[in-house]
Amino acid sequence: MCGIIGIASNKSVSSNIIQALKKLEYRGYDSAGLSTIDNGEINEKKCSGRVNNLEKMLFQNPSNGTLGIGHVRWATHGIPNEVNAHPHSSEIVSVVHNGIIENSNFLKKELINKGHKFKSQTDTEVITLLLTDYLKKDNLIDAISKTLEKLEGSFALGIIFKEHKNLVVGARRGSPLAVGYGHNENYIGSDSYALKTMTNKISYLDDGDFCILTNDKIEFFNSKRKKINKEVSILSNDKNDSDKGDFKDFMSKEIDEQQITSKICIHEYIDKIRNDINFYNFSIDPKKIKKIRLIGCGTAFHSCLMARYWIEEITSIPVDSEIASEFRYRKIRFNKDELYIFVSQSGETADTFAALQMCKKNKASTCGIINVTESSIARLADFVLPIYAGPEIGVASTKAFIGQMIVLYLLSLKISNLRNEISKDDYLKKIKDLKNLPNLIKKTLSKQNEIQLIARDFINSKGAMFLGRGYSYPIAMEGALKLKELSYIHAEGYPAGEMKHGPLALIEDGIPVVILAPRDRYFEKTISNMQEVIARGGKVLLITDDDTEIISENIRFKFQIPKSNYQLNSFLMTIPLQLLAYHVALLKNCDIDKPRNLAKSVTVE
Ligand code: AGP
Repeated sequence: MCGIIGIASNKSVSSNIIQALKKLEYRGYDSAGLSTIDNGEINEKKCSGRVNNLEKMLFQNPSNGTLGIGHVRWATHGIPNEVNAHPHSSEIVSVVHNGIIENSNFLKKELINKGHKFKSQTDTEVITLLLTDYLKKDNLIDAISKTLEKLEGSFALGIIFKEHKNLVVGARRGSPLAVGYGHNENYIGSDSYALKTMTNKISYLDDGDFCILTNDKIEFFNSKRKKINKEVSILSNDKNDSDKGDFKDFMSKEIDEQQITSKICIHEYIDKIRNDINFYNFSIDPKKIKKIRLIGCGTAFHSCLMARYWIEEITSIPVDSEIASEFRYRKIRFNKDELYIFVSQSGETADTFAALQMCKKNKASTCGIINVTESSIARLADFVLPIYAGPEIGVASTKAFIGQMIVLYLLSLKISNLRNEISKDDYLKKIKDLKNLPNLIKKTLSKQNEIQLIARDFINSKGAMFLGRGYSYPIAMEGALKLKELSYIHAEGYPAGEMKHGPLALIEDGIPVVILAPRDRYFEKTISNMQEVIARGGKVLLITDDDTEIISENIRFKFQIPKSNYQLNSFLMTIPLQLLAYHVALLKNCDIDKPRNLAKSVTVE
């Protein structure tokens, strides 16, 4: 949940560090800092708030030096202020860290007993002081290894040393760390996105690895201090994704892009000539699958929830959808012939990655449905199905959600087809309908102005309910999450049929209630639930594909999505809900791309 950068160069590094930190702000933005080796001394500068504050600090008081590390923070231990901002330095060492050191209290006590004084409340400072101690008697590699061996928990580290003025050290366990190859300079960074403006040649550390960078050499070591080689990947050049263009913010750009990214994703998987779905790298024979478990967090979990309905509908396979932070601690009974599917936009979410590691340890067959294909989850899963959404910068996930659902829908269809559980005609019809989805998304997006009017109804409400049945229920959950995380208004996604078992008590005059009721097999029942809500004063926004007049003078608003194959309604209903959350947040002057307290990639527990 934090972002780190390190650069070893033959020229001044502070401006490149600042630029990289700006790209890393999506990972955390409550404080920032950097340190360089400046005239032989560690020169540390840090501040609370955004990277811009650090940049202003450097304008007044520049940091020189051709070696440096930087950090943007999402607070885990210690309030977000200057003292707790990274780097954390001693006289001879400076450290930036992403992750959580779970035995930091124990180590802190040990270090205090040895006479050390702590300046911050962070867990990271124990790393600084452990290294400082070991460096007094050990060489660099032994000091690094002994320090890492003392740590429990997760870390991606960037370290510089007063006595080693030409090198940066990177280390990784559980939190991602990329290494970049430049011209007369080399880099470490939390992800390739931060390094992309400086290089497209990237390697990745694996858990237990550490590396030593100078401006013209990179050495990799494993946890046994043995030198190893790393594969070098050449990154694609998707320059246009890293700026907003004419859009006000990344989120509105990424909502609009869905008409394109959905087309790219479908195009990638559907074979134009054979008119079939191209999945061929299964790690398990689909005919033998006895159970599927879908695992994710937040929005990614909602796409898992959605896929459960699709897979159950068109195959005979029992399906569970699981929240990763719960699943990873449960006593799971692993059996043969089960497929575990991990859904993650970033591919770095700690809970999802830990759940994947647990499944790998139990020899389960695993699949990753991922946007960032060079991520940790993508590299650990047995096989990976990219969603081709391009970099998603807005913290609130939009185009990635649509991409996750497209790939999950295609996977459901393909597995059903391979198990002969769907007729050829139905299979081909669903593929044909899906190919039209981008046009339907475009049509839905063109009605954005209707949502702007509706948004006003929400800005002063003390809460909102999002209700749906069947295929609409996961989308109700996603709509509620979007409103919460963007506008800070409490909202709840709920199965419409469950309201009478308690939550109906929440409905009073003026409460906004979003009802998702496409004309599918749940329609009549959901409309009855809608009447129950209206009868108690709820202000209903009805989202439906139905063009008949639904009798009720008290529907506040009706948003019509285009008619389609009923299984595509989930995609189309998502669009107005994304736009609703966006426009309510805009009216409330909330930070659209960086909502408070959140970060794009949750790489800590
Ligand atoms: C979505 O709008 C949220 N930002 C968040 O719930 C996100 O979906 C979740 O943290 C999972 O992230 P991932 O897809 O990168 O694993």
